[in-house]
Amino acid sequence: MKFGHFDDQNKEYVITTPKTPLPWINYLGCTDFFSLMSNTCGGYTFYKDAKLLRMTRYRYNDTTPDTNGKYFYIKDGDTIWNPGWQPTKTELDSYECRHGIGYSKFTGVKNDVKAELITFVPIGDPVELTKVTITNNSSAHKDIQLFSYVEWCLWNADDDMKNYQRNLSIGEVEVIDSTIYHKTEYRERRNHYAVYSVNTKIDGFETSRDEFRGAYNGPDRPAAVIEGKLHNTIASGWYPIASHQINLSLDAGECKTFVFALGYVENPEDEKWEKPGIINKKRANALLAKYQTTEDFDNALAKLNTYWDGLLSKFHVESNDEHVNRMVNIWNQYQCMVTFNMSRSASYYETGIGRGMGFRDSCQDLLGFVHLIPDRARERIIDIASTQFQDGSAYHQYQPLTKKGNSDIGSGFNDDPLWLIAGTSAYIRETGDTSILKEMVPYDNDMSVATTLMEHLKRSFDYIVNHKGPHDLPLIGRADWNDCLNLNCFSEHPGESFQCFGPSEGPVAESVFIAGMFVKYGREYAALAKLMGDTAEEARVLAEVDKMTAAIEKDGWDGDWFVRAYDAYSHKVGSKECDEGQIYIEPQGMCVMAGVGVDDGNAKKALDSVKEKLDTKYGVMILQPAYTRYHLELGEITSYPPGYKENAGIFCHNNPWISIAETCIGRGDRAFEVYKKTCPSYIEDISEIHRTEPYVYSQMVAGADARFHGEAKNSWLTGTAAWTFTNISQYILGIYPTLEGLSVNPCTPAAFGDFNITREYRGVIYNIEIKNPNKVQKGVASLTVDGNEIEGNVIPFDSSKKTVNVVATMK
Ligand code: GLC
Ligand code: GLC
Repeated sequence: MKFGHFDDQNKEYVITTPKTPLPWINYLGCTDFFSLMSNTCGGYTFYKDAKLLRMTRYRYNDTTPDTNGKYFYIKDGDTIWNPGWQPTKTELDSYECRHGIGYSKFTGVKNDVKAELITFVPIGDPVELTKVTITNNSSAHKDIQLFSYVEWCLWNADDDMKNYQRNLSIGEVEVIDSTIYHKTEYRERRNHYAVYSVNTKIDGFETSRDEFRGAYNGPDRPAAVIEGKLHNTIASGWYPIASHQINLSLDAGECKTFVFALGYVENPEDEKWEKPGIINKKRANALLAKYQTTEDFDNALAKLNTYWDGLLSKFHVESNDEHVNRMVNIWNQYQCMVTFNMSRSASYYETGIGRGMGFRDSCQDLLGFVHLIPDRARERIIDIASTQFQDGSAYHQYQPLTKKGNSDIGSGFNDDPLWLIAGTSAYIRETGDTSILKEMVPYDNDMSVATTLMEHLKRSFDYIVNHKGPHDLPLIGRADWNDCLNLNCFSEHPGESFQCFGPSEGPVAESVFIAGMFVKYGREYAALAKLMGDTAEEARVLAEVDKMTAAIEKDGWDGDWFVRAYDAYSHKVGSKECDEGQIYIEPQGMCVMAGVGVDDGNAKKALDSVKEKLDTKYGVMILQPAYTRYHLELGEITSYPPGYKENAGIFCHNNPWISIAETCIGRGDRAFEVYKKTCPSYIEDISEIHRTEPYVYSQMVAGADARFHGEAKNSWLTGTAAWTFTNISQYILGIYPTLEGLSVNPCTPAAFGDFNITREYRGVIYNIEIKNPNKVQKGVASLTVDGNEIEGNVIPFDSSKKTVNVVATMK
């Protein structure tokens, strides 16, 4: 069952009922200022850091009710309604929400009044703009009222929801004309405030939530709106809000348009005050002045659209498969930008008050983002590497505002260092910019011990070399990619952290997954060393990689698949020997991607086992059989009910690893089958089962053991976005950036047909035509570049060209 449809022409998903199974959201903002916006106008706004600079308040633990957002109320006689349905939930005569790329549009109709909202964050300014157009489509004159509404968050979103003894006494606002200024804590400690303004004279305002709603009322029945009159209260403490009242007198057929602006303003220390207690509004006024007319609004929106058209044109495919075209050309790339910006901090499942930027998460997000804005990827790599420790280990997370590592989590996740190599290698393969390797980068943000980035990569690699266990496999530490496989923790009581409690970084437990990563990213690091002329380092690294490959072959192979790990007693995890959790997906994907077993047939065996044991119609599960009881020696993974999350859920992130692995052994049919199962557009028709947004990936889909098999959770912020884009663009469609140039080596289903790709690479546009006359799954028989046939798969990079025309014919 569907709750809307794709509009590919406009790059929008059109939601046709407010009653979607879960709130279906969008992200507004490209760099610093962000809003989450649900299909019923719920959501919240922040500047740079969802925890520390939260502008509007959201109610936690309330996923489906989706309480709080940026609402507009219309009072038309006794009927009060919202164009986005929430929060009054007055039945609308018609409703539509269009989530587009960086903007959302809502159209609601009630009793012949049409209200259209368009909302977005313009490029370069910390402000969310909303254009509201009200049309009287009746045949009579109407006097109606429009009310805006936002509830301020008192900046630190964590403290805001806990510390009432203080917070209910600190709220402060100012109001001048049509602008409401939220200045809580501005006094000495803060140099920023928020504004909410509209480009017209208003008929009233409200800044006290209790005055607006009335005691004991929720936002669905605001007393002041029912009364039809705001009381111009200046809030003092309690719950400051911002609401404008506009009385509209509309003749039959007449329409009126307003532009609302919700902005963030920072003042230099010495320009904080106009006079004692009165904030300096110079910067706010300058910001608001830029968006005073509908033309200003329309121009800024057009700019945003042009910006996105430019970004999305960097990779464009035209194939016979509309789902592939739509996901690759629009939504998957869009989600890659969102995950790059948000990491795992702010979504409808990540509260924005917990995790900041994850070291491994952000490194992986780069894989799907680097082709969009390489300069931002470059900056991110330096930020991440700056939180590394001198021995090559890394803070697991850091806070975006300070860019400093989070010491409450600390380090000890032994896959982290290798992801830095993955991200850096992707950046250099994309851009050819080796200067980044010579940048001086601090350790733990201490510039006095800075070294080159290349040295950081060496220490990443050597961290694994120096931390091996009894089978010469890498020590797992607190966890590897699988945060919930906690082999050194032994957490026995609630309240103890699964990852940080107990010994945590013990000397025995090993990860075959990290071993696979070491082989894959070790080779990428060796290639960088070679590129930089350090052949001795290249040889040293490749020798270590060979040793690790041998260790995997010896003790990492279980007969029909790769072992997952060895626990703190050196017992196998993910082996036939186990009673539960006999096979895990991660080492099958990672080891094969690293090339282990490709020549001796083990790769094929492992992937056949995956298909036999882990496959479901909704995707490939992370492990089987599910753990039915808590295993102290395995940790959090066994704390989940069977079928959810890391305990046998379909963890979408590593489905593309299996798909990529299949391309490594040439099975395009199976690679694509795996791709399709979790691909949002392909499963749009089962939205009532899948439940999350049909235009983006979710972190997890419930596995076969779960009561709600097929139901997704944790949409938007997941490494699935970057990895599926990597999979489809680089492996299935086969346009892979190497250090020397683009390689063309598709691996598609036999019946996929011919396709064309436009790819911008290092400033050159490649028009690539791929023909598959004999319906093969893999293998390029001939490659012509601007009419000349070349040897091999790699188009040598030539910066003197603007456009390159390529024809690849498969065998
Ligand atoms: C979450 C984490 C990611 C981890 C994964 C598996 O998605 O953000 O870092 O790899 O779970 O545990
Ligand atoms: C929990 C989640 C896991 C996530 C981790 C982040 O363990 O189950 O998915 O990666 O928290 O710390």
